[in-house]
Amino acid sequence: MKASEVAEGIFRLSANIGSDMLFEGIWPLPHGASMNSYLVKGRDVAIIDGVCDWDGVPETLYAQFDQLGVKAENIRYVVINHTEPDHTGWLRSFSSMTRDFEVLITAKGLELAKAFYDLDVPCRVVKSGDSVDLGNGKKLVFEETPNVHWPDTMVTFEPSTGTLMCCDAFGTFGAVDQALYDDQLDETRLDFFEREALRYYANIVGRFSMAVDKAIAKVRALDVRIVAPGHGPVWRRDPDRIVNLYERLASYAKGPARPLVTVLWGSMYGNTQKTVTPLLEGIADEGVETVAYQVPQSHIGDILASAWESTGIALAMPTYEFQMFPPMAAILDELGRKHVKGKLAVRTGSFGWSGGAQRELDEIVQRQKMNWRFLDPVEFRGAPGTDDLKLVRQRGRELARQVRETALA
Ligand code: FEO
Repeated sequence: MKASEVAEGIFRLSANIGSDMLFEGIWPLPHGASMNSYLVKGRDVAIIDGVCDWDGVPETLYAQFDQLGVKAENIRYVVINHTEPDHTGWLRSFSSMTRDFEVLITAKGLELAKAFYDLDVPCRVVKSGDSVDLGNGKKLVFEETPNVHWPDTMVTFEPSTGTLMCCDAFGTFGAVDQALYDDQLDETRLDFFEREALRYYANIVGRFSMAVDKAIAKVRALDVRIVAPGHGPVWRRDPDRIVNLYERLASYAKGPARPLVTVLWGSMYGNTQKTVTPLLEGIADEGVETVAYQVPQSHIGDILASAWESTGIALAMPTYEFQMFPPMAAILDELGRKHVKGKLAVRTGSFGWSGGAQRELDEIVQRQKMNWRFLDPVEFRGAPGTDDLKLVRQRGRELARQVRETALA
């Protein structure tokens, strides 16, 4: 990949990681992801954010230094907006090439950087409103945006070009090719990155939606003309597009979202599975869209993205040894941890010699403070009868009507 000019004196350096990697060791990347750094050239040179230390990734960055005619020892400042190792792993190899630079970082970031790395270089703590003059009209202004995504995070703004270098904020999954900027992407590719933004948001940032709202308010107070995140495309034709999308995704944390129902189902011997079709049909009767995921066959990363943008959740799972079908319990627990809250929901399911799934479902929803509003469940012993299946379809219709009334426009 080649270094490219974002705006006068600001350059984008990027490396892709492939679909064989799990982000944070958890989240699948079917379309890869990019790690973006930015080099700002005034009289002094600064690099804002970096890349992970996975095989070949720092080397890709160093090759792009060469393309720009910049040597490691020319870099005066290393700005760490966020200490997570996907942006800082490269520092180990970089500091073996030169030690003649100063790190600019928040107080919390410094604490974390010391825990992750043995950084024996000068570090300067910066806070909101602080700035560094690079000379030749280039300046870096810092604004703390804690908890987007870790408590250390800040954004770096370059006023002469209006470039916001914002690390995880406004990022997306999805590897980039030679089209690195929104002005080089057609509507199909923009849609692709917006879908990748949803998965990234739900998997990585969603839990911190209140912090995202606060960060957006700070960003809107700046004269931002280019949004340059740590992952995904740079937005310079229409920077509001990604900021507005993030604002919308953050609003889903309250519960109401798209007029969509995510149907999660798992079945041991096909009895609970018999309720899935009438559930889907009942929801469709009211003209509401559904997406269905079988558990445990589906990955939590995809389920989380779908649940995040859904107003309704329908669960079909049996009782298993006095409790909930175990993989569904794990999914629900993760939805709770990631703050999928305020959803409208219904549950169907079979039991054999005893119930228990509903008790565990209630316990998880309460413990995780999920605040889901449930319709009456449809539970049956063994196989569902005709009346059970009719009732399931009716519950599907009831859920869909509530979703339609509650969903955001
Ligand atoms: Fe891209 Fe939270 O690191």
